Amino acid sequence: MKDIEVNYEGDDIVAYNKLLFERFPQALFDPDFLESNSLLSINNAELQHGRGGIYGFEYNEINLVLRHYRRGGVPAIFIDDKYLWMTLAKTRAMQEMEILLTMHGAGLPVPIPAAAHIHRNGLTYQADIITVLIPNAKTLSSLLVEDSVSSEEWQRMGQIIKKFHHYNCHHADLNAHNIMLDQQKEIYLIDFDRSIIKASSEKWKMQNLGRLKRSLEKLANSNKDFHYHPTDFSSLMQGYAD
Ligand SMILES: Nc1ncnc2c1ncn2[C@@H]1O[C@H](COP(=O)(O)OP(=O)(O)O)[C@@H](O)[C@H]1O
Ligand SMILES: [Mg+2]
Repeated sequence: MKDIEVNYEGDDIVAYNKLLFERFPQALFDPDFLESNSLLSINNAELQHGRGGIYGFEYNEINLVLRHYRRGGVPAIFIDDKYLWMTLAKTRAMQEMEILLTMHGAGLPVPIPAAAHIHRNGLTYQADIITVLIPNAKTLSSLLVEDSVSSEEWQRMGQIIKKFHHYNCHHADLNAHNIMLDQQKEIYLIDFDRSIIKASSEKWKMQNLGRLKRSLEKLANSNKDFHYHPTDFSSLMQGYAD
């Protein structure tokens, strides 16, 4: 892609967004380096809500978020972060970087991709991605623990998901942890690992929405204080249908 610069050094590849940086040191993908150089941001405790291994830091006066690719649902002692190498373009990190650039270019609310790192080791690779921090944002799942979300916001969520579907963007893991709202209640979709642009079909679009609905119901079932009511999803669907 024309906005991505790719640098090779031995078994390591760093690809970065040329619109943001003139250079991007590989060391910035190393949490120990970030820590020992006091680059980590203060909001790191909040970022640890995901699967872990998420680090916030600043470079070039831009607040960034680092994430290492690993398979979910594997017990920590068996953490598997190695993937089969095919081509650079097919790595998880390059695929996510590309779809984020495309969606951002189309004006859709996603984190701006900053850089990707791939470490090759024979037939396998490990990878990381860095995106621009969405300032003062919380995940929908964490917001609903504290308070309810207005029907107007649920409707806007539906409108935004509809826009992604209009571009045939299939989010591989659309759930309440991967939707964020900032202080102005702007809505973002995050975490585009394994997401693809796919031939249009009502079937996968409805499955996408069904997955989000089930994730909300599951959270509501496991926490009696979770501020979710089935009518909230009706508001979302109303926005989707507009
Ligand atoms: N660009 C970003 N801006 C703000 N917060 C982010 C950003 N990217 C990730 N996060 C935070 O980190 C968490 C985990 O990131 P995510 O991309 O969903 O990875 P995973 O679910 O695989 O751990 C998110 O739930 C969110 O709280
Ligand atoms: Mg996630």
